[in-house]
Amino acid sequence: MKKAPAACSITIYTFFVFFILFVAAAFISFFCFSSRFIFLVNNSERKAVPISENHRKTPRPIVVPLNCSARNLTQTCPGNYPTTFDTDLAWKPVCPDYFRWIHEDLKPWKTTGISRDMVERAKRSAHFRLVIVKGKVYIEKYKKSIQTRDVFTIWGILQLLRRYPGKLPDLELTFDCNDRPVIRSGHHRGPNSTSPPPLFRYCGDRWTLDVVFPDWSFWGWPEINMKPWGNLLKDLKEGNNRTKWMEREPYAYWKGNPLVAETRRDLLTCNVSDVQDWNARLFIQDWMLESQQGYKQSDVSNQCTHRYKIYIEGWTWSVSEKYILACDSVTLMVKPRYYDFFMRSLQPVHHYWPIKDNDKCRSIKFAVDWGNSHKQKAQAIGKAASDFIQEELKMDYVYDYMFHLLNEYAKLLRFKPTIPEGAVEVCSETMACSAEGVEKKFMMESLVNSPSVTSPCALPPPYDPPVLGALLWKKANSIKQVERWENRYWEKLNQQH
Ligand SMILES: *[C@@H]1O[C@H](CO)[C@@H](O)[C@H](O)[C@H]1NC(C)=O
Ligand SMILES: *[C@@H]1O[C@H](CO)[C@@H](O)[C@H](O)[C@H]1NC(C)=O
Ligand SMILES: *[C@@H]1O[C@H](CO)[C@@H](O)[C@H](O)[C@H]1NC(C)=O
Ligand SMILES: *[C@@H]1O[C@H](CO)[C@@H](O)[C@H](O)[C@H]1NC(C)=O
Ligand SMILES: *[C@@H]1O[C@H](CO)[C@@H](O)[C@H](O)[C@H]1NC(C)=O
Repeated sequence: MKKAPAACSITIYTFFVFFILFVAAAFISFFCFSSRFIFLVNNSERKAVPISENHRKTPRPIVVPLNCSARNLTQTCPGNYPTTFDTDLAWKPVCPDYFRWIHEDLKPWKTTGISRDMVERAKRSAHFRLVIVKGKVYIEKYKKSIQTRDVFTIWGILQLLRRYPGKLPDLELTFDCNDRPVIRSGHHRGPNSTSPPPLFRYCGDRWTLDVVFPDWSFWGWPEINMKPWGNLLKDLKEGNNRTKWMEREPYAYWKGNPLVAETRRDLLTCNVSDVQDWNARLFIQDWMLESQQGYKQSDVSNQCTHRYKIYIEGWTWSVSEKYILACDSVTLMVKPRYYDFFMRSLQPVHHYWPIKDNDKCRSIKFAVDWGNSHKQKAQAIGKAASDFIQEELKMDYVYDYMFHLLNEYAKLLRFKPTIPEGAVEVCSETMACSAEGVEKKFMMESLVNSPSVTSPCALPPPYDPPVLGALLWKKANSIKQVERWENRYWEKLNQQH
């Protein structure tokens, strides 16, 4: 009789222990999965996450058109645009991943900050200095840039201020509108070297420290009739809807100016001829002829006619990159040297197909043969790129990128920004009211008419160095993988002959 209660209590005890373990396991799995779920929603899908229902108040949008009625608009900016505007703080999506490169680009000044002397030293090659003081913009012009690059870059920053009035801090920056990055990192290494000057421009490479900023073409490129990005994105979407991938020409297409770089002249040797076919269809862009014919042949939304499109650098990075990636075609990217603000987050084989720069023809031939025999995979690459462009590179995010870059930059300034002597105040009115022709048309098309009712997206944190290292390794590795496939393909072909 004595044994029974003991056995019973052991059973109860065992049961109790198991019960505790079970509850603990349930708790752990619940929290793991739920936090993973939140992570997915936050980062991958980038849906808006409500912070709290109580904090939600949706501001009413207002429209403030351009006011060209003042008497002398070359001199005065009308003060009718709001200087602050409440935004809905409750809905704040996380910015796309490429925003993390903002931290990398500003890293050289992370510990030292940016002194006035550093900004002054950046003047040497700059086209202008842009100063924001109390929400107003002042330009000190140093020299004329190529075409209207400076005009549309400044215009873009003015639209950013119209989008987020009162949200940009005071700052001074110098901007170089030329192609090639110039602040060599090698000149600013070692114990006695000077800190690098911060200089803004459109692209960078691994040997330089220039800070990359969205290029002028997002607001239009009048000289070649390239309209502002916002509307062009819609045209491209409609164009993709018209010609489906399967119905496109099963070749690699490129059209451009071969005179700007040796590598482009080299590409032309891959063109189809009577004696060879590397699967490439290459054409020379004749801008003189195009301008006479009203740019009918250069409309980028009508150039998504081939399953594969080649991206190749010119003098540096090429503005054409975003138009090519937006096509739904597989982008064949000839190994680039330069990067703009978004391309460092693109993954080979996922967003584009890598092409060797020292063996272009054979590389292109293999890429096209591979795609035509793996049609589903090839289409997925084209789709991933055009989705990236349509979703993550829409104008909203271009503005948010500028916002965060300027904001993080201003945090580093160790001096009080002041209006330079000889600088003039600029605003959308001083630029657009007196503009004419295509310039005026593009400015009116890209004008921000009302302050944003939503806040900028939330800037993701810097990469941990090991995470960044792993990312770069993964990228290099998938390029090597493609090279191995390519080598095997040519070995097999050569054995057959
Ligand atoms: C506007 O101001 C500029 C600069 O002071 C001056 O040169 C120009 O003549 C003025 N235009 C008119 C219409 O008053
Ligand atoms: C436009 O600007 C002028 C001069 O600054 C001002 O008098 C006028 O009220 C403004 N018009 C509107 C519609 O805001
Ligand atoms: C750096 O400057 C210090 C003091 O001027 C000098 O003694 C040293 O040799 C310099 N080092 C180099 C690498 O130039
Ligand atoms: C795409 O085409 C379909 C049918 O042809 C049409 O219903 C749809 O509205 C189009 N979508 C866009 C974005 O043009
Ligand atoms: C490439 O070949 C095509 C087809 O023969 C031809 O129409 C085109 O002009 C050629 N391109 C160049 C740059 O020679």
